[in-house]
Amino acid sequence: MVLSIDRLTKTFGSKIAVDHLNTEMQPGVYGLLGANGAGKTTLMRMICGILEPTSGEVLLDGQNIFEMGADYRDLLGYLPQAFGYYPNYSATDYLYYIAALKGIPKISAKAKIKKLLKIVGLLDVSNKKIRTYSGGMKQRLGIAQALLNDPAILILDEPTAGLDPKERVRFRNLLSSLAEDRIVLLSTHIVSDVESIADWVFVMKQGRIIAQGCIRDLVEDVQGHVFEMAVKPSDVGRWETATTVANLRREDNRTILRIISEDMPSDKAVPVPATLEDLYLYHFPTERSE
Ligand SMILES: Nc1ncnc2c1ncn2[C@@H]1O[C@H](COP(=O)(O)OP(=O)(O)OP(=O)(O)O)[C@@H](O)[C@H]1O
Ligand SMILES: [Mg+2]
Repeated sequence: MVLSIDRLTKTFGSKIAVDHLNTEMQPGVYGLLGANGAGKTTLMRMICGILEPTSGEVLLDGQNIFEMGADYRDLLGYLPQAFGYYPNYSATDYLYYIAALKGIPKISAKAKIKKLLKIVGLLDVSNKKIRTYSGGMKQRLGIAQALLNDPAILILDEPTAGLDPKERVRFRNLLSSLAEDRIVLLSTHIVSDVESIADWVFVMKQGRIIAQGCIRDLVEDVQGHVFEMAVKPSDVGRWETATTVANLRREDNRTILRIISEDMPSDKAVPVPATLEDLYLYHFPTERSE
């Protein structure tokens, strides 16, 4: 199975949200990392066939997904970024409802729903109303609905948004167990969320993929651009304006800045090993990762 994205472009008026993007995905877990407005959701909606490209196309094994129509939708599971819940439904009611929308017969839906509720760890609360669920429980229900048709392609738009650290770990484990033989694409702002689950990461900025690779190689690219430097506390503001400061800590009467910079910011700066956090700030210097 190969999902190919060929010169895919979407414009909204004069705004280019996705800009002649090319890539190819085979079964595995892919992380789509980008700041607000990078074009992640627009790209995902085109991959799902919900949004028509301005130009370019998405192909599954060489066939245009719009031409495949329902055959493609049968292979697809999607968790949208803004996921609509029905607060007065229980998880079970909700999954029956989505199964009906997806055209899954009630008889086969029953066993499937039970199995999925177990996988996402909601079996004991399956008859409670969704409004009583935590953010993490809702997200897991979102995953369950995306998995109802056992999709070969699973698209998850910011699945970890609003999860606490414990829920995040649980979510990661769930995803890794689902990844076999599927193409899983998930978007996030949080570098550490893709760290242990994504085999391959796309860094997306202004509608383009500006870097890609496994996390280790991406961090490697940032090596040599991270420095530490001691400054007077009264100079911190000036350095923050002039450079990208990833971190600062107080040591005696000085402040130690961690600076991300293409070149050595000063001859007093010392190169230090790059981390995952530095990777995000290197590509999105005006944003701060969570
Ligand atoms: N329906 C629309 N009409 C006009 N502009 C849009 C529309 N959808 C997206 N855009 C613009 O396209 C760009 C990309 O938006 P998109 O939602 O794809 O980004 P994103 O990476 O998903 O951001 P976020 O991290 O905030 O979810 C933004 O500048 C956005 O304002
Ligand atoms: Mg988005």
